[in-house]
Amino acid sequence: SLFPGFAPMPGQPAFYNTARQTWLVFRYDSVQRVLQEYTTFSNERGGLDPLQKKSSSAFERPNMLSMDPPRHRQYRNLAASAFTPRTIAKLEPRIIRIVHALLDRVIDRGEMDVIDDLSYPLSITVIAELLGVPASDQEQFRRWTEDFFQITTPEAQQAQQELGSYFQHVLEQHRREPQDDLITALLNAEIDEHKLTDGELISLCSLILLAGNDTTRNLIGNLLLCLDAFPLAMEQIRANPDLIPSAIEETLRFLPSVHTAPRLCIADTELDDQQIKAGQWVMPMLASANRDASYFPDPDVFEINRSPNRHLTFGYGIHFCLGAPLARLESKIAMEILLTRMHDIKRVGNILLQPLVSPVIYGVRHLPITFTRTS
Ligand code: HEM
Repeated sequence: SLFPGFAPMPGQPAFYNTARQTWLVFRYDSVQRVLQEYTTFSNERGGLDPLQKKSSSAFERPNMLSMDPPRHRQYRNLAASAFTPRTIAKLEPRIIRIVHALLDRVIDRGEMDVIDDLSYPLSITVIAELLGVPASDQEQFRRWTEDFFQITTPEAQQAQQELGSYFQHVLEQHRREPQDDLITALLNAEIDEHKLTDGELISLCSLILLAGNDTTRNLIGNLLLCLDAFPLAMEQIRANPDLIPSAIEETLRFLPSVHTAPRLCIADTELDDQQIKAGQWVMPMLASANRDASYFPDPDVFEINRSPNRHLTFGYGIHFCLGAPLARLESKIAMEILLTRMHDIKRVGNILLQPLVSPVIYGVRHLPITFTRTS
């Protein structure tokens, strides 16, 4: 395969995977229904996860992602104002400066690693500044993130413990010295006239830190992977950079950096003629839904002009990704600046692509490219 470790199964009916004890769901309609129908498919895990059986320090308390209505809305609202398209648009000048500074470091070398030199430092710096944690801790964040998304390993457990202690310390610092950042705002926020507990704040901050960096880092990586695999698409966006946003949407559809958003079935139901029972785990497979031929003509063609393109990579319904405007803006700016500063972008072909070890995230560990600088 062009993309090692990536094998969606579009159009298949749901089946029960006995080894993992979960239902896997592939069809677009069914995936959409699982994501949307929270009265049957719940996000509340009671500290349990289908892949990862133990609860742990950073996520001991629930956050919006592990809540159903009506609580979900109240908790989501606390962070939502920081992520509206309008608020996010104000970050544009800062994102442009970060991208230029990162490219300044490599522009004379004629080669770079898209992940190490651009997409990771960009996404972690933006989310760290927004939250209010030092971007200089980014190597530590990277280790925690990669370990966390392995989900089932002892390293994943360890990462959550360490993340929990880290944010406990960060909360105490922010209480002593309030800043103009999201953590300070969350410390003062109230639901039904109550402040959030430390456990709730730690869980929310950990969610934003983890969700805000790995997903976007791999979106930018996967975009360059797709453009390398489909040189015609690269020529099209060079000729017309206005196509960058739709090339990003097509990357989200074609090679999504997030693969599933687990649910717990809480009421017996029928799906794809299968009987799903309360208490069983259900995994809607986003990459498979995105290749469903009944929604996407020629689903295996990477078509940057595709319209409509209603991929499910940011989820669907009440849990629709809060960070979507940020992910879209960061990747758009990164690609625009890459194209203005670099010609002849080529993947270093003799280096084997190594997929990240994760049942949830798809991306590559490193993506070396060569280029020539524009004058
Ligand atoms: C939710 C994907 C970037 C924060 C989600 C969900 C998906 C997703 C599939 C739904 C999960 C569910 O239904 O259970 C992605 C992808 C991204 C991305 C593919 C980038 C390419 C970000 C960024 C942030 C973020 C940059 C920044 C903070 C969140 C949060 C939720 C969420 C807080 C939970 C929303 C809720 O439960 O109401 N994301 N995400 N994501 N995402 Fe993202």
